[in-house]
Amino acid sequence: MEKVIKIEGGHHLNGTVRISGSKNATVALIPACVLGNEPVTIYGVPNISDVQSLIVLLNELGVYVEKRDEETLYIDPTHMENIPMVSKAVSKLRASYYFMGALLGKFGHAEIKMPGGCYLGPRPIDLHLKGFEALGANIQYENGCYILDAKELKGTNIFLDISSVGATINIMMAAVYAKGRTVIENAAREPEIIDIATLLNKMGARIHGMGTSTLVIDGVDYLKGCIHEIIPDRIEAATYVIMAAAMANDMRIENIIPQHLEAIVMKLQEVGINMEVGSDFIHVFKTDKPLKRIEILTKPYPGFATDVQQPFTVLLTQCNGKSKVMETIWENRFMHVPYLIQMGADITVKNQTATIIGPTALTGSEVVATDLRAGAALVAAALIADGKTRITNIEHILRGYENIVEKLTSVGAKIESHEI
Ligand code: EPU
Repeated sequence: MEKVIKIEGGHHLNGTVRISGSKNATVALIPACVLGNEPVTIYGVPNISDVQSLIVLLNELGVYVEKRDEETLYIDPTHMENIPMVSKAVSKLRASYYFMGALLGKFGHAEIKMPGGCYLGPRPIDLHLKGFEALGANIQYENGCYILDAKELKGTNIFLDISSVGATINIMMAAVYAKGRTVIENAAREPEIIDIATLLNKMGARIHGMGTSTLVIDGVDYLKGCIHEIIPDRIEAATYVIMAAAMANDMRIENIIPQHLEAIVMKLQEVGINMEVGSDFIHVFKTDKPLKRIEILTKPYPGFATDVQQPFTVLLTQCNGKSKVMETIWENRFMHVPYLIQMGADITVKNQTATIIGPTALTGSEVVATDLRAGAALVAAALIADGKTRITNIEHILRGYENIVEKLTSVGAKIESHEI
């Protein structure tokens, strides 16, 4: 059974949307919990399919998982078994590779097949593997499976050629039990990494320098249980702020950390969006002034997030003049563009740069969500468009946006999802 989303565009949005816990933090926090020897309780877990896949993986490892309520997970790794991770669930998401660092760190052995996730161009994991090797692991690749072994992991200095989010988190997890000090230079600085390090420190790890490009991990012998609340999802927040910027009369996006959204807010202000940024909310109001063209360059945090580029491109179709979006992180992150063109947008893509000429009216169409944020972009476009849009392949959207249909319905969108 395939699920589709249908949207009748052109309806103004009014009301409040509450942002869920961060997907990209959650998908690393859950594997991080198995590093410990006692139960961990996590609050603010989003109800998304990536979390369901991770729960399947935990169960396969013999980890006891209990959903205490809609957004609370109790994870008890006391009786876990380090079996090879080769099931279908591994290929359902990218983040299954965080079990490499976690299992290697805890047991000195990990066996796991290639992870899945959105196709955004090649997604190598060489930096993760180099980091594990630098810590003392031996790595083999057999029949689509990575086998990592280490008699003992020893702290060392690691310089990341690219400040990769995944490599920073994975190496940090492998290093928490390593003998001595590990220093990761050119570490990524994303808020999600701070969240994982905060959880690990509550469990007894000794990680310093979170949020800077030098991460220092002093190895410990034991990790205990703790309680942790996940940070709000800055990408989900940005997506709804963009939708509000395009279609709201008066819409409030709450449960956010505005500091995580600074680069996005600056760009929305440059476009001319009328909004108030509060301590934990952004309120967007309708503006009658024409929206201005801008240029966006995607960068690692604190720069403009690549994950927001796709929905933002939709807003740029409503701005006056020639806007540009230069994508520097992923090779293939413009797969939403052909569908936006089909809906009436004037966009050309060349050399990793999209040139958007606006404003253009958009018309409802039959479109396909090729990846998570492309899907979110198509939802945004459909809200603006005249007429009805039908989006297929929405499992990508459901991997990352909790209750998107319900949240948008609550602010007045005409959106429904059903099986075909
Ligand atoms: N890279 C390498 N070698 C590596 C690792 C990364 O060359 O070993 C390259 C990648 O190919 C890419 C760049 O480094 O060009 C950055 O990749 P990074 O490792 O930072 O990305 P990631 O950890 O795989 C996370 C998010 C992505 C987000 C990127 C960049 C998760 C689960 N995913 O991916 O989120 O785009 O960081 O911020 O945290 C999304 O949410 O839609 C999404 C794709």
